[in-house]
Amino acid sequence: MTRKGCTLSTFKTEVEQGVAEVLIEEDALRDRIADLGAEISADYAGKDLLLVGVLKGAVFFMADLMRQISVPCEVDFMAISSYGASTDSSGVVRILKDLDESIEGRNVLVVEDIIDSGLTLSYLKRTLSARGPASLEICALLTKPERREVEVPVRYTGFEIPNRFVVGYGLDFAERYRNLRYVGVLGDEAAAGL
Ligand code: IMP
Ligand code: MG
Repeated sequence: MTRKGCTLSTFKTEVEQGVAEVLIEEDALRDRIADLGAEISADYAGKDLLLVGVLKGAVFFMADLMRQISVPCEVDFMAISSYGASTDSSGVVRILKDLDESIEGRNVLVVEDIIDSGLTLSYLKRTLSARGPASLEICALLTKPERREVEVPVRYTGFEIPNRFVVGYGLDFAERYRNLRYVGVLGDEAAAGL
């Protein structure tokens, strides 16, 4: 039985109360991530791969993606200030936690949960490319093309989604909902804080 597109009313767990609709089912996420992992494994065969996750949302995707990658790879994480500062049109975001190691000469793949305006990643890409990596690419689970304010070249994309606020599988609304196993659309009442 699929819950895609339904209101979820008969299935809701406590955390699902705020979810209006399932947008991407758990199975679909798993299948697409397996494909991405295979593609990345082929592209980085024989290369030294460093996955850079953007905290906190990308952790869930990163953990699953990494286990679908069959070439040796390492992980590191960065935390940057999100909404508020990141919606500033200058695109300058604050680094709250930097990488543990140097990326000079490394093949870096930035793993992000979602690209909205593109400002966060375009800033991150500029900052990281100044550190002299051998290569620098982006892998995003979700992208909302309609919302793009700056173009960011994304090498690997999981799903293109419409302009709606989504939660789950790492994505939050006010730090909640990250633990949903699927990607869902936040209901109006939950978005209004009711
Ligand atoms: P950008 O700089 O506008 O591309 O912002 C990207 C960041 O905004 C993501 O890493 C998320 O943290 C957040 N974001 C954008 N859209 C959504 C959404 O629909 N749900 C949850 N977080 C979102
Ligand atoms: Mg984020």
